[in-house]
Amino acid sequence: MILEQLRAKAIELDSADNLSDCKEWYVFPKDDKGNNNTLYFTGNSLGLLPKSSRVMVEEELDAWARLAVDGHFHKERPWVTYHQNIAADLAEIIGAKETEVCAMNTLTVNLHFLMVSFYKPTKERFKILLDEHAFPSDIYAAQSQAAFHGFDPDEAVVFLKAKEGNWCIDDEDIERCFVEHGSQLSTVMMSAVNFKTGQFFPVEKITALAKKYGGAQQEIKVGIDLAHAAGNVPLRLHDWGVDYAAGCTYKYLNGGPGSIAFAYVHDDLAKDTSIHRFAGWWGNDPKARFAMTDTFVPLPTAEGWQVSNAPILSMAPLVGSLKHFTDVGMDTLRAKSESLSSFLIECIDTVEAATPIQLFEIVTPRNVDERGCQVTLNIFEKPEAVRKALQDAGAVTDFRPPGLIRVAPTPMYNSHMDCFRFAEILASVLI
Ligand SMILES: Cc1ncc(COP(=O)(O)O)c(C=O)c1O
Repeated sequence: MILEQLRAKAIELDSADNLSDCKEWYVFPKDDKGNNNTLYFTGNSLGLLPKSSRVMVEEELDAWARLAVDGHFHKERPWVTYHQNIAADLAEIIGAKETEVCAMNTLTVNLHFLMVSFYKPTKERFKILLDEHAFPSDIYAAQSQAAFHGFDPDEAVVFLKAKEGNWCIDDEDIERCFVEHGSQLSTVMMSAVNFKTGQFFPVEKITALAKKYGGAQQEIKVGIDLAHAAGNVPLRLHDWGVDYAAGCTYKYLNGGPGSIAFAYVHDDLAKDTSIHRFAGWWGNDPKARFAMTDTFVPLPTAEGWQVSNAPILSMAPLVGSLKHFTDVGMDTLRAKSESLSSFLIECIDTVEAATPIQLFEIVTPRNVDERGCQVTLNIFEKPEAVRKALQDAGAVTDFRPPGLIRVAPTPMYNSHMDCFRFAEILASVLI
């Protein structure tokens, strides 16, 4: 068989993998016959349930039953400060200071709240820069923010585009975009990793260009959507000078469906408590929170953007999940992720080489520094039928129009053998 020589390589790579036991921390879905040998490649959409998360949720349900309102103050992890249990872990994962991160709300909600503070359009500078193929919710958020300030969304929302015929951008595209829009940009609000192509953008370079074009007054704020980046790729938000960011936790971070999101605000900005925001009592200085006064005293940290009291049952799974990330460490995870995605590409290329005519292309950059763990295939004919056939054969992937199938081997619970088996299934479906 065309792939046979890669089976031995998968075995060899897996035997050198010191994270191979981590998959025991997770619960795999069962197939129709009750077997849980599913090849799960959709950790980029909804991560698997960590066993530790179930324990954490049960702990909070028990506390609620035993303590009721006293649970806010009198327990091991009091509910009034519960959000702080995950700030340090999130900060480590995204390369921020603990004071720069706050778990709160959901992703698009956070993008809106942050844009209230950091998108301050003027007649001269009113544009919002997004990545081409940005997630629709981000586009709607940007459009509605522009319209809210009285600007035409079609003019105000601009995209960092690849050259005609390309899926992914390069340095030249970035430079060209800033030359064209730099003097009119008010904020960048783009993904770190694009949800369709899987491209990991050079956030540091983009931030530096925004600072250059924003001039001495730093008139361009840099906001980043971390949905597909957090827990997936190495991030240094603070050192790169990113101004604000938001991310969800239900993908790579395995927080559960619709789990709590988070916001990041650079210390230099968070310290400035005069920055306009939509306020709520949980952004108030804790000393004043229960004094029930009429005056809002924002915390000089990302917590100053928190509005409501923390949704404990949405956060509890994450307390369990994030510990695995900090125990393993992002550098170790990334090393395995690079190995997995490179091997997956090698396997897929081998299938491609054996097809009589070209049936698909790999859309994700081949340069390992420009991708996370997701590898996206553009299937030319009947992509949905191909995805269904993959699923029926035990490989869970997903489909995004026009013809994209996303395959995300995550380093926490996928192996090189999973990648090999995916390629075997792909070959059986296509050839
Ligand atoms: C890049 C990106 N932005 C925004 C969203 C929307 O997230 P939410 O529904 O949590 O607001 C998603 C969801 O998958 C996403 O991938």
